[in-house]
Amino acid sequence: QTVDLELEAIEKGGFEHFMLKEIFEQPRSISDCMRGRLDSATGRLVLGGLREYVNKLVNADRILIVACGTSWHAGLVAEYFFEEFCRIPVEVEYASEFRYRNPVVREGDVVIAISQSGETADTLAAIELAKSKGAIIFGVCNVVGSSIPRATHAGAYTHAGPEIGVASTKAFTAQLTVLNLIALIVAQKKGTITEQKFHELLVDMETIPAKVEKALKLNDQIKVIADTFKDASNFLYLGRGYNFPVALEGALKLKEISYIHAEGYPAAEMKHGPIALIDQEMPVVFIATQDSSYEKIVSNIQEVKARKGRVISVVTEGDKLIPKMSEFTIEVPAVHEALMPMVSVIPLQLLSYHIAVMRGCNVDQPRNLAKSVTVE
Ligand code: AGP
Repeated sequence: QTVDLELEAIEKGGFEHFMLKEIFEQPRSISDCMRGRLDSATGRLVLGGLREYVNKLVNADRILIVACGTSWHAGLVAEYFFEEFCRIPVEVEYASEFRYRNPVVREGDVVIAISQSGETADTLAAIELAKSKGAIIFGVCNVVGSSIPRATHAGAYTHAGPEIGVASTKAFTAQLTVLNLIALIVAQKKGTITEQKFHELLVDMETIPAKVEKALKLNDQIKVIADTFKDASNFLYLGRGYNFPVALEGALKLKEISYIHAEGYPAAEMKHGPIALIDQEMPVVFIATQDSSYEKIVSNIQEVKARKGRVISVVTEGDKLIPKMSEFTIEVPAVHEALMPMVSVIPLQLLSYHIAVMRGCNVDQPRNLAKSVTVE
């Protein structure tokens, strides 16, 4: 027993929980994921596992992404990225819905399956179904040699290292890294991205580990926010564009480890229903970094303030406007908006972690949840 506890303490590397360790590992896991694959100085961008089938993606009429939970959120970010830079239509499917509804899969469609564990039963079944209809399947998985990589035609590992905490953190940012690399390779081959934009994005990708490192320095500030809102019964997370899936991910993290009811929404959807929930009791987390929808989200913040909602904003460093409208502001380093989810998700992971710890929850093994869902 004592030996087991000591071993566990060593594995946690001085952190109180695996989840916190994994959150803090992200600068390294993201750079591990890019190592040997991307070099902006030479313009080198390779993913060995894709080489044989890359033209299938370049010529795809449509990309179908199948996944569950956090991996599905990574798929949503990828939808924005692939459509913007590769000009390929993308549909992101819950694997559990896809597998049971006789989906239309045509020749010329390419399926990307995303899974940390590589063992999720619904994702595996969705792959088998798409394969039986003749589709080519790419896998984006973390666990080497797991079932999904064995069932796919090709793929790329995320190389995030073992993720023990049930709440997925470093696997998510590594999935985004790989998906961005795939999209950039395809965009360059297809000619749907200018050389200049391609180069800019490679350079920006290389800055992500340092920017995540900087975002992690917000830990103490986020503890204060967690302490203020730890007794809330509900939370809303709102974002637009690339930050919309980040809102979903922030809400999922909070739900699963703190048992606080939380919902993520595209900020503009608020007026179609959720705005009715807002009163002086409702914390609303805005992911409102400088991007093409900045002015729109500023109006959404005003709408929440007018109804006395308690605004917590994640903004780009140096933002002068939103801090004046927010009870709490979290400043993250600037990066191209397409890459922002890898940075803007960090404070949300920390916020959910600290709230869960303050509520006395079992952060690494939340009730009713398993690390990989191998049953349907
Ligand atoms: C994430 O925090 C969850 N625990 C869960 O949603 C998870 O992402 C989902 O079960 C998918 O798992 P996979 O990536 O291993 O397929």
